[in-house]
Amino acid sequence: MKRIAILFLSGLVLAGCNDSDNAPEKTAADIPINSPGAMVPQYQMRAALPDGDRTTSTADGEVLFSNRCGACHLPGGMGTNLLTKQRVEAGYPPESGLLANRTDLTAQYVIEVVRHGKVAMPPQTRVDVTDAELAQIAAYLEGAKE
Ligand code: HEC
Repeated sequence: MKRIAILFLSGLVLAGCNDSDNAPEKTAADIPINSPGAMVPQYQMRAALPDGDRTTSTADGEVLFSNRCGACHLPGGMGTNLLTKQRVEAGYPPESGLLANRTDLTAQYVIEVVRHGKVAMPPQTRVDVTDAELAQIAAYLEGAKE
């Protein structure tokens, strides 16, 4: 009998919690990252670094690009923002500010820019991105749209 009373009371408590005024606040996880209401910009949501030896990595170029370059080159990143401004001024569509949308990048050009830097982009060392990782990333950016 005591147990039934407790169950009944806890039911009341739970029903009380269901009050819509007390509905929990939406968190970033409730909103798809591509939606206009997204709270966490994509450049802050980059992919995890794949496991394994980075010097012989054959991990997916898109994942490596997201992890190694994404802080600047995913949507909302400073590289994307700066390139978008440049591209629009040069008469290209704003989407081409994302490296992943470019159709004119060669793997060799990507490697040159990454190792030597370009204006506001600092050179990336072999600690930042290994040769093996960069080869995967460059192949991804060259072939991203085919
Ligand atoms: C610290 C931020 C930052 C990181 C990290 C970064 N970039 Fe950049 N990147 C930039 C910026 C900013 C520019 C635009 C440079 C300018 O023109 O002033 C740029 C430009 C480029 C360009 C030249 C595009 C063009 O139109 O000529 C390429 C290619 C590129 N980045 C590839 C990469 C790759 C691949 C990685 C990862 C290995 C990477 N970047 C990491 C900031 C970054």
